[in-house]
Amino acid sequence: MFDLHGRVAVITGASSGLGLQMAFGFAKQGADLAILARRYDRLEKIAEEIRALGVRCLPIKCDVTDTESVNRAAKEVIKYYGKVDILVNNAGSSRNAGVLNMTDEDWNFTLDTDLTGVFKVTRAFAKHMVEKQYGRIINIASIYGQVGNTAMDTVAYHSSKGGVINFTRAVAAELAKYNITCNTLSPGYFETELTADTLRTKEFTEYMKATVPLGRYGREGELNAAAIFLASDEASYVTGQNIKVDGGYTTV
Ligand SMILES: NC(=O)c1ccc[n+]([C@@H]2O[C@H](COP(=O)([O-])OP(=O)(O)OC[C@H]3O[C@@H](n4cnc5c(N)ncnc54)[C@H](OP(=O)(O)O)[C@@H]3O)[C@@H](O)[C@H]2O)c1
Repeated sequence: MFDLHGRVAVITGASSGLGLQMAFGFAKQGADLAILARRYDRLEKIAEEIRALGVRCLPIKCDVTDTESVNRAAKEVIKYYGKVDILVNNAGSSRNAGVLNMTDEDWNFTLDTDLTGVFKVTRAFAKHMVEKQYGRIINIASIYGQVGNTAMDTVAYHSSKGGVINFTRAVAAELAKYNITCNTLSPGYFETELTADTLRTKEFTEYMKATVPLGRYGREGELNAAAIFLASDEASYVTGQNIKVDGGYTTV
């Protein structure tokens, strides 16, 4: 089960953190990959390491906020592989402030990357899934797409990720007739470039211990199993769902 040989997976935001970890996870299941991000030098090195696992890997410079860049990336993937089976919308960023202090610029930056970027990438790649009547779309949201929080002011991030969860449901309903599934994965707290500065503080660690039943942050690679499941043939009857990988944060 969960064999991805013969499948082509596109992962956005694969130059670091969870996207990078999922790229290795998918490669170990046999998937060929296209890895997208803005830092191309990093992608080239990662692609070399992934190829050493015996699969193909195409690095592509892509800014998910830029329609032309996204459409070019889709063309490049189709030219190289002839198809796309799996899309992981993982690229994300955040400018944090509360509703009273948030600037238009920071709000738009966060929404453009975390929500509109997911839309643009899905639009560009899903039409190639429609042609083949097969697809697995996995959108990375967050626990913060489902709840507010008292630890820090991150109103734009909550808004984007909540949008991603319902975008997923709409796309799942729309594309089901083409044998395309679309699901959300909502990670809890994982230490990455995005979060390390916050998660390493004593205050946040105490907050985490009080609010995460498993009492720890997510470990490297701990998101992979759920992503691989949703990407697999075996998940053929699962669509529109939101799987939380959060140590229990959203259950209490
Ligand atoms: N870590 C957590 O605790 C956590 C929890 C819940 C949800 N998440 C979500 O998980 C996803 C990955 O985050 P992470 O923690 O792994 O953070 P990360 O290490 O900072 O990785 C973010 C990735 O997104 C890419 N990216 C950012 N803006 C982009 C843009 N405009 N165009 C293309 N790529 C862009 C970055 O690559 P370049 O800079 O090279 O473009 C990088 O590869 C995000 O959607 C995040 O919101 C993370």
